[in-house]
Amino acid sequence: MASSSITGSASRRLEGKVALITGGASGIGASTARLFQQHGAKVVIADVQDDLGHALCQELHPDVTYAHCDVTNEDDVRNTVDHVVATHGKLDIMYNNAGISGSMIPSIIEMEKANFEKVMSINVVGPFLGAKHAARVMVPARKGTILFTSSVISVICVAAAPAYTASKHAVVGLAKSLGVELGQFGIRVNCISPALVATPLASKSMGLEAEQAEDVMGRAGNLKGVVLQAEDIAQAALFLASDESKYISGLNLVVDGGFSTINPSLGIALAQGKA
Ligand SMILES: NC(=O)c1ccc[n+]([C@@H]2O[C@H](COP(=O)([O-])OP(=O)(O)OC[C@H]3O[C@@H](n4cnc5c(N)ncnc54)[C@H](O)[C@@H]3O)[C@@H](O)[C@H]2O)c1
Repeated sequence: MASSSITGSASRRLEGKVALITGGASGIGASTARLFQQHGAKVVIADVQDDLGHALCQELHPDVTYAHCDVTNEDDVRNTVDHVVATHGKLDIMYNNAGISGSMIPSIIEMEKANFEKVMSINVVGPFLGAKHAARVMVPARKGTILFTSSVISVICVAAAPAYTASKHAVVGLAKSLGVELGQFGIRVNCISPALVATPLASKSMGLEAEQAEDVMGRAGNLKGVVLQAEDIAQAALFLASDESKYISGLNLVVDGGFSTINPSLGIALAQGKA
């Protein structure tokens, strides 16, 4: 009896839950919407790519619906959260996932202030607004879980992307701060920090096709024989959104196959010394 109830909950791990996923029209957000729906959740995806969002909803109708929402616009975020509650009666899971990479630049001297501000606006102000309006409806309910997509770049610097790096560090700080503040209301707050996943964002920022991006990560990665995919990040989100992680809060879950634990500098210097 006990084992069958465990099996049952394992197959539909978000049964009865309501989720809002920003950046849900593409990449990691779209994969997460798909997985959450398979696990019994009602999902609203919020994005600015209306055509992509509507196409995904046609496929996953009626459990997944679309709302146009620019995460940098507080009215949009407020209205989208209110729309979720009006439609489904509550908000259990807020996944602040929308983001951009910004420009890769050779030097900070080359970086325009407007570029820095745009990255911070979408990657930090957006998640702040998402968390703020989620908390507005979760605090009275005294439950809920808030997730953020940060990046492996929150724990290791790998590229000439100061705005993106700063923004993803800020997201971790925001999550940890909110985890402390909202714990008293039974609300958990966590981050997921992926390594390179061949989504449109990654391909665009590196100037590579999806297969080329996967090839680069395959060669640079620590864990060989597997390729990190958007579905793997969705699985991390599923765990952190589900009751299986009911006592986990304030975590930055790095999904990188151990990539960030390596510092190859000494090995390279030794190899060069021998050459
Ligand atoms: N792909 C990677 O290698 C990687 C690695 C680490 C972290 N991330 C993070 O994962 C998250 C998802 O990115 P992805 O890789 O799936 O890329 P993606 O480009 O496929 O998806 C990002 C989505 O965010 C949306 N978006 C952008 N600006 C928005 C705005 N102002 N309002 C609402 N939506 C907006 C886009 O329209 C897009 O649908 C981002 O926060 C990104 O920084 C990605």
